[in-house]
Amino acid sequence: ATAQIGVTGLAVMGSNLARNFARHGHTVAVHNRTYAKTKALIEQHGHEGDFVPSETAEDFVASLQKPRRIVIMVKAGDATDAVIDEFAPLLDEGDVLIDGGNAHFEDTRRREKDLRDKGIHFVGAGISGGEEGALNGPSIMPGGSEESYKSLGPLLESIAAKAKDGSPCCTHVGPDGAGHFVKMVHNGIEYADMQLIAEAYDLLRAVGGYEPGRIAETFRTWNTGRLDSYLIEITAEVLAHTDAGTGRPFVDVVADEAEQKGTGRWTVQTALDLGVPVSGIAEAVFARSLSGHTGLREAARGLPGPSARALSPAEAEEFAAQVEQALYASKVVSYAQGWNMIAKASEEYGWDIDLGAMAAIWRGGCIIRAAFLDRIRAAFETDPQLSTLLADEGFAREVGQAQEAWRTVVATAVRHGVPTPGFSAALAYYDALRAERLPAALTQGQRDFFGAHTYRRTDREGSFHTLWSGDRSEHATG
Ligand code: 6PG
Repeated sequence: ATAQIGVTGLAVMGSNLARNFARHGHTVAVHNRTYAKTKALIEQHGHEGDFVPSETAEDFVASLQKPRRIVIMVKAGDATDAVIDEFAPLLDEGDVLIDGGNAHFEDTRRREKDLRDKGIHFVGAGISGGEEGALNGPSIMPGGSEESYKSLGPLLESIAAKAKDGSPCCTHVGPDGAGHFVKMVHNGIEYADMQLIAEAYDLLRAVGGYEPGRIAETFRTWNTGRLDSYLIEITAEVLAHTDAGTGRPFVDVVADEAEQKGTGRWTVQTALDLGVPVSGIAEAVFARSLSGHTGLREAARGLPGPSARALSPAEAEEFAAQVEQALYASKVVSYAQGWNMIAKASEEYGWDIDLGAMAAIWRGGCIIRAAFLDRIRAAFETDPQLSTLLADEGFAREVGQAQEAWRTVVATAVRHGVPTPGFSAALAYYDALRAERLPAALTQGQRDFFGAHTYRRTDREGSFHTLWSGDRSEHATG
């Protein structure tokens, strides 16, 4: 037994992760359900480091040093359970099985518990950064036992991306499903970021009259400021790309129906269960789903819209600057919502997640990597109990300065009939949070009227019911 780590499931993500381990000097056992993929990996990349290929699960397990560490890189869902069922009987107490797929955290909790009963550590590890990240340094979010991280952590940290300050973009997130949970929220935030960027593009084009190439330039400029991020960078690339066949902007020849594999949807479903408003993420998921409803869109295509005047070039330039502000403020809101969700789950499941550390490991490697994340890390360093990012002094100041422009952008979008569910929901969230009084008081009155659901008062303790269909006297109910 010579290998320090094993990877089973050698599609692109698995192969790239195995190569990343090998390139960092680790001896890597590799295995795939069909041997052809294993052979291809060795033929093409065997020279990059020390690989130990195996045809059977038994040989693969035998090639690993103890405690064995096996990374499973198969499609999330039944395939993962099948691989676990195949390997668990071959493992010994103290061995570590790592699931690097985008598993649902509840599945991870179930698997972790089952394997814990057998003495095997199961680590659900979120891995972000796509194919490129897997090869050159992803952001890694491992959950599972504290003990498993002792033997696994150094290996994962060695292949993870490094933040600007040199620290690895990998940390022990928390027990059982905590790692996959935060990866799920990462993806929800990814959806929100993408939606906000798409809205900014749409506004610059439809209201500002900018062509895709010009918008690419605008994004490049924004990318030198506070919006500096991987997603803004690649957006500029996509917008500047010309379709070879037609000579038209690439963005104009792509079907406008956004797909999704489901992690954003999970984020919203889970947020509903946790009772955490993540309206920015929810609107992003709904915007994708709406885009795919071609029947609905076809049926509504001829409906009337506003006839708004196009902006002059000077106005468009001013508007672009306002869109940058709206984008930034909305982004702060979606991150604030995402962090609230992590905080709530951490409390609910007893995970004790270090909120600042999540920002720290997302500074590099992952899809939402951005200069901005260091600010979030710093905000939690200043106040580990921070209840919302919007209350951090720095973010509060910036969002406060942006709010006039933000309102102008949302109002302009409405006047021009450009849908901006992300910008609008974020602004509504901001206004609701800062409101002195919310109309929720009226909602409580209605509930009490039709269902005797009771209400609390601002001036006295206890719950009350008014006899709405009687003499309208009020009674204490508890
Ligand atoms: C990542 C990505 C990765 C994947 C998304 C795409 O962090 O590396 O999030 O996990 O690209 O799942 O998701 P959709 O297909 O749902 O857009």
